[in-house]
Amino acid sequence: MRLSWTALASLAIGGVGAVELDIDSADSIKEASSTIAYDMMSFYTGNNTGDNPGNLPQPYYWWEAGAMFMHMVDYYYYTGDPTYNPTTIQAITWQAGDTGEFMPQNQTKDEGNDDQVFWAFAAMAAAELEFPPPTQGYPSWTAMAQAVFNLQAERWDPDNCGGGLRWQIQPLNAGYDYKNIASNGGFFQLAARLARYTDNSTYVDWTEKMWNWISNSTLYEPGTAVGTKIYDGAQIEAQCSKPNPAQYSYNYGILIGGLAYIYNHTEEDKWLEPIYGILNGTFNIFFHDSSQVIQEVGCEPHNSCDTDGLTFKSFTLRWLALCAQLVPQTAEQIWPYIDASAQGAAGQCSGSNDECGYHWLETTWDGSTGVGQQMSALAAVQAPMLQVKDLKAPLTLKTGATSKGDASAGTGGDTDTSGDSGSEWLTKRITTGDKAGAGILTALLLIATLGGTYWLVSY
Ligand SMILES: *[C@@H]1O[C@H](CO)[C@@H](O)[C@H](O)[C@H]1NC(C)=O
Ligand SMILES: *[C@@H]1O[C@H](CO)[C@@H](O)[C@H](O)[C@H]1NC(C)=O
Ligand SMILES: *[C@@H]1O[C@H](CO)[C@@H](O)[C@H](O)[C@H]1NC(C)=O
Ligand SMILES: *[C@@H]1O[C@H](CO)[C@@H](O)[C@H](O)[C@H]1NC(C)=O
Ligand SMILES: *[C@@H]1O[C@H](CO)[C@@H](O)[C@H](O)[C@H]1NC(C)=O
Ligand SMILES: *[C@@H]1O[C@H](CO)[C@@H](O)[C@H](O)[C@H]1NC(C)=O
Repeated sequence: MRLSWTALASLAIGGVGAVELDIDSADSIKEASSTIAYDMMSFYTGNNTGDNPGNLPQPYYWWEAGAMFMHMVDYYYYTGDPTYNPTTIQAITWQAGDTGEFMPQNQTKDEGNDDQVFWAFAAMAAAELEFPPPTQGYPSWTAMAQAVFNLQAERWDPDNCGGGLRWQIQPLNAGYDYKNIASNGGFFQLAARLARYTDNSTYVDWTEKMWNWISNSTLYEPGTAVGTKIYDGAQIEAQCSKPNPAQYSYNYGILIGGLAYIYNHTEEDKWLEPIYGILNGTFNIFFHDSSQVIQEVGCEPHNSCDTDGLTFKSFTLRWLALCAQLVPQTAEQIWPYIDASAQGAAGQCSGSNDECGYHWLETTWDGSTGVGQQMSALAAVQAPMLQVKDLKAPLTLKTGATSKGDASAGTGGDTDTSGDSGSEWLTKRITTGDKAGAGILTALLLIATLGGTYWLVSY
């Protein structure tokens, strides 16, 4: 039942060179994900002498590195493979800085709210998914997300379009006069995640406030023939009355993710209608009718995806999987689309070193390579792990998460930089019965006690 036509087609031609994927096998998913992650990380230069942790080379923008490390946090969650954890920890903490704000001087000149929030998603995922703690001397993962939340809450702009955030932070940047879903939906999702994670009602209030703005804006159009449509953004000049009609799948994904978190936290039925509506729009607009494989329709069919556009499918798929997990009644509807897309993606990872192209509806490698292609394939291929393994849903402070947080991070006072207590995290891992790893962890704990800088030496 799960065999899509793409998979059938690749069987028919003998599966030439593609990454093999059996979505019913944890081992197969892990191996395919590992191959794709390896190829993705081979683009990373932030650990080279003379470069800075967290950087990708040209032509990748800074935000894309944040997104890449978000997927690497997910990679560890889905597969349990710790190979890239030290690199990931180093990259995220370096870019967060000692205030946890993800406003490094090298980037602030052209940093947008959406750029910043993607790094915050990486930190938030680390808190939710039991990722090892940040480098000592830095804020905790949760405090990083809270720092970004606090800064963005201050940027709420009631004077234009009735509220919302501007895209850009700096007044001189093109885009300061634009309000977009990536920034507003990004803040909405971050607030929803903090609400669920910390159970602090201030974050629920902000989630509601942002949702009221988004859902009343011209960017949100429920009830069309294909379901709810989401538009990219609108110019402030016309008081956001004329939405930019561009269709990007991640704008749908970012809202689905936020809605899933807040529904799961509040258990209020009012969040279900928007979820169903946006799911309808997502499936009808972005997934191929018969094969159910995702396609970035704005650019993929005419080979015009830019560097950013090549990443979009990754977020849509990530947050669809999250929705299936946190809004269980949507799971049955969502999984066939992810499964088919995973098969499509794997079939397109058929470069000479298994590198992935972007045209998942085709089984012959399209000849393209890049971080966005790898990221999208990785998100597709690793998600089905949720169906074969009983992985814990994103944790909260009440369900065992250990990253403590600092509600006042990023507000100018001293951010708590005691981080997530490393030894507390290790103890937790041992007592929660990571049997195979317990010996190693005990050894690490010893090193931690002796050395203090154990994360540098632990892998
Ligand atoms: C940097 O990280 C990548 C990916 O993990 C790895 O392939 C490469 O060897 C590393 N380079 C250095 C200099 O450590
Ligand atoms: C910013 O650039 C300087 C000079 O290359 C470098 O020393 C510093 O580490 C960079 N900061 C970050 C957060 O990458
Ligand atoms: C927006 O929508 C919410 C609920 O959907 C409603 O309560 C509110 O009054 C609407 N208008 C504004 C300006 O927020
Ligand atoms: C979603 O689509 C289904 C099938 O077309 C329809 O029955 C349902 O009313 C739609 N739901 C929303 C909220 O748009
Ligand atoms: C929230 O997510 C958990 C984990 O998947 C699930 O067990 C629970 O039923 C969800 N809550 C609601 C209200 O659907
Ligand atoms: C909840 O979050 C708000 C906003 O950051 C903060 O001011 C408040 O102190 C927090 N409350 C608790 C109990 O942590």
